Amino acid sequence: MSRLVVISNRVSVPTGGAKAGGLAVALKDLMERQGGLWFGWSGDTKAEAAGVTLPYLVHHENVDYATIDLTPEELDLYYNRFSNATLWPLLHSLPEQMHFDRRSLQAYRGVNERFADVLVPMLRPGDTIWIHDYHLLALASAMRARNVTAPIGFFLHTPFPSPDMLGSIPEAALFIRDLLAADLLGFQTSNDAENFATSAQRIAGAARMAGGGLQLGNRQIRVGVFPVEIEPAEFAQMAEQAFASPETQRLHRSLDGQSLILGVDRMDPTKGLRHRLAGFRRLLETRPQWHRQATFLQIAAESRQDVGAYQDLREDLEREAGAINSTYSDPDWTPLRLMARGGTREAISGYMREARICLVTPLRDGMNLVAKEYIAAQDPENPGVLVLSKFAGAARQLGAAILVNPVDPDEIADALDIALRMSRPERQDRWNACWEAIKDTSALAWGRSFVSALARVGQEGQIVPRP
Ligand code: F6P
Repeated sequence: MSRLVVISNRVSVPTGGAKAGGLAVALKDLMERQGGLWFGWSGDTKAEAAGVTLPYLVHHENVDYATIDLTPEELDLYYNRFSNATLWPLLHSLPEQMHFDRRSLQAYRGVNERFADVLVPMLRPGDTIWIHDYHLLALASAMRARNVTAPIGFFLHTPFPSPDMLGSIPEAALFIRDLLAADLLGFQTSNDAENFATSAQRIAGAARMAGGGLQLGNRQIRVGVFPVEIEPAEFAQMAEQAFASPETQRLHRSLDGQSLILGVDRMDPTKGLRHRLAGFRRLLETRPQWHRQATFLQIAAESRQDVGAYQDLREDLEREAGAINSTYSDPDWTPLRLMARGGTREAISGYMREARICLVTPLRDGMNLVAKEYIAAQDPENPGVLVLSKFAGAARQLGAAILVNPVDPDEIADALDIALRMSRPERQDRWNACWEAIKDTSALAWGRSFVSALARVGQEGQIVPRP
């Protein structure tokens, strides 16, 4: 079986202490079965990292983990600026948040080149290469430039914007050509895949083929849709156990019979948190009957705090949370609890089972696994209600949730009111439909389907060695 080489910005090294999330675990399982190499950034910076060509190596259960440090300048320009202040808002179609400067673009390309320099000598004949996400848009072409002929797949975890939006930063649109150096390009939804294919046609002159592929010169490139999944049965079991834990029981007691409205996000401008708080404020303004009947716990785990837009978001949320609480609190009731600290997966699964409503309202999201986890965490006899942005990839599968426009506070307030009043039979009907949509999926099957599609590309002889 071909060795699987995974490349991502962050690497989940098993001995590193931090607990890996569901997706990282699925990738690790896949690699352990067929032998693997996982390459990426160590998470550390060192001034002398620039010239270093040998990675740190850890071998664990059939997988080699190979990581390199970044210089502080690379971290600033490649990660904070170009990845997270240019590409992230661009890919999420949030033009007002986009920043662009040439120096960070060059540093981004430089880090992609350096990844290729360090990785290529570690490759073996027969390897299958799988690149992840928006930090590494130029890696496939950098590897081809170093004569790598192995099958290369690329999966984008974020949305892919319309060609017009992409064109608002012409230099970034040129990454389309780099991506076309891969053999298989995977996206979360058909809309993302379609947006990419249209851009590839316009920018690189690729021809559309029947069945979703692209033809570029003598090469065929497959474009596929691979929605990311969770392990639903495992998550359900974890939530059931965590519900009885002291942490969830403390939360339960603190609610004193009120309904819990829950939000769980990274503190990120794409997550719609400003509008979400405005929606909750509208609920309190227009439906005083819910005062003292519901409490909103928003877990907004601090993220990317070196990026200005993220710092501004934190300040805004703290100000607005204070304003909501000072307007509506009673001596013994605080309507909103805002936490910038995340929790363990276990603890959060217990809170999800406790929550009568989960508010998942990103302005845009590639998939959003919190929505799927909330469904998996419910008690089928008495499930809660998912209020979900129609602009999250997960809305394609979870159409039985209450779907909302995430920028409309009135719609969010209406959805909360409907969800708080919803009868148990209707909650069960909606939950059953959502559970049916995810119960037979798995993160591991997601990984396998991508890797086997990539293997098929190889077998079908569609990889034409580069000149
Ligand atoms: O696709 C978005 C993503 O890169 C996820 O893979 C990851 O969970 C999240 O962003 C975390 O971002 P960061 O590595 O910047 O903390």
